[in-house]
Amino acid sequence: MSQELTVVILAAGLGTRMQSKKAKVLHHAGGDTLLNQIIRAALRVAPAERIVAVVGHQAEQVRQSVHVPGIRFAEQTEQKGTGHAVLCARNAIGRTDGRLLILNGDGPLLRAQTLRNLLDHRHDLAAGGTIVTTRLSDPTGYGRIVRNERGLVEAIVEQKAASPKQLEIEEINPGLYCFDAKLFWQYAGEITPDNSAKEYYLTDMVGILARHGHAVAPLLVPDETELLGINTRIELALADKILRARKAQELMLKGVTIENPESVTIDVEVEIGADSVVEANVQLRGNTRIGSECRIGTGSVLRDCTVGDNARILPYVIAENSSIGAESFVGPFARLRLDAEIAEGAHIGNFVELKKTKLGKGSKANHLAYLGDSNIGAGTNIGAGTITCNYDGQKKHPTNIGDGVFVGTNSTLVAPLTIADGAYVAAGSVITKNVEQDALAVGRAYQVDKPGWAKKRRNLAQEKK
Ligand code: UD1
Ligand code: CA
Repeated sequence: MSQELTVVILAAGLGTRMQSKKAKVLHHAGGDTLLNQIIRAALRVAPAERIVAVVGHQAEQVRQSVHVPGIRFAEQTEQKGTGHAVLCARNAIGRTDGRLLILNGDGPLLRAQTLRNLLDHRHDLAAGGTIVTTRLSDPTGYGRIVRNERGLVEAIVEQKAASPKQLEIEEINPGLYCFDAKLFWQYAGEITPDNSAKEYYLTDMVGILARHGHAVAPLLVPDETELLGINTRIELALADKILRARKAQELMLKGVTIENPESVTIDVEVEIGADSVVEANVQLRGNTRIGSECRIGTGSVLRDCTVGDNARILPYVIAENSSIGAESFVGPFARLRLDAEIAEGAHIGNFVELKKTKLGKGSKANHLAYLGDSNIGAGTNIGAGTITCNYDGQKKHPTNIGDGVFVGTNSTLVAPLTIADGAYVAAGSVITKNVEQDALAVGRAYQVDKPGWAKKRRNLAQEKK
């Protein structure tokens, strides 16, 4: 048989046991959807153009959720079973030769190596193909593998149709099949909905091929955790836990120190450089990229962030879509969002929030500040309690602060506003007009002193008693 490979991923079902409005394959484990997790494994054995996902429930959302370009889709408008789902992919597949690798869409723990083993497995007496099997001490719910005297698979019997004796079989079908495509399509018409569920079972194909003298070989995989199919939220949580543990191990093997690895949540696409330390209870999500020799403090949550080498993220920093430069210090308790950009060596301290704000090289905002829609130069100091008033109730306005500026404590900067290089803003000012280069701006009421006033007041109060 020709070696051309097509991968079909079955992802049309709702997944009733999830008790969800959302299609099962849209649920997340390990930081991505179940479907994307399985596509990730499939891409290691086939190019995107040879992968067809069969979608049905919330077809549009499922399509949108796939971020790999080139993946093809087939639609199964009515879910009439796994066999029917493959038949729906017939046109999208295009060719009827080579090999047909069919994967259930609800098995996110599958490793690429297992797919390779499945594809490499050859058995002289099994022209029909190979399927993965595993043994479970509790096989309830799975299709049981019935072997013939030669050890080949004679049939897969679904739980509902199994005899009491067949129910005792511990070898089950995890839903990974590699068929000879020509034989598959030749006999596909023989799958009928002749069962209690009135569904077209893909699993029937194994018995059909065996009857025609094209038996299927089993590839027994001992690690059953890898083959877990997600049907309920309990299994979803278990898959998530396993994927997180795998990710942490992968990073540790690449030279990242992770303290209390069971406590961290790191999404599948996250990258971290060697000799970085991730403290306990950290969450690193989405496309976060962290350089080498960084420290990520406990309780911090970073989503889609870039962190340069040797940066220090102190505990409880919440950052989204932001970039943190090399050698910088952030936190504790800082918040960065919407394209905040902290340049090399800058410092962001406790209770400082940055929104759509660039902070230049070596600049500091060390305590209690809100900096929104701002562009701040290098070597500038933003005093404690500085607030950019970027919103007038209708529109957002920008604040530009140059290099080497000193903004005194508790300043209120009313945007739109420019404070030029080297300028100085007196503490407690309300700044409403642009400040020119090297100027001092004082925007506050001058202090008036009344000698003896307090004493007089005390004496008056004493006399009244
Ligand atoms: C299926 C197998 C069973 C196996 C188990 C492993 C069949 C008949 N049974 O059962 O032998 O032990 O997987 O997990 O195949 N799907 C569609 N269209 C449909 C129905 C299902 O695309 O009409 C997709 C689902 O989205 C899912 C996959 O096929 O990703 C498996 O469907 P599911 O209903 O979970 O099958 P099981 O009952 O678990
Ligand atoms: Ca299933």
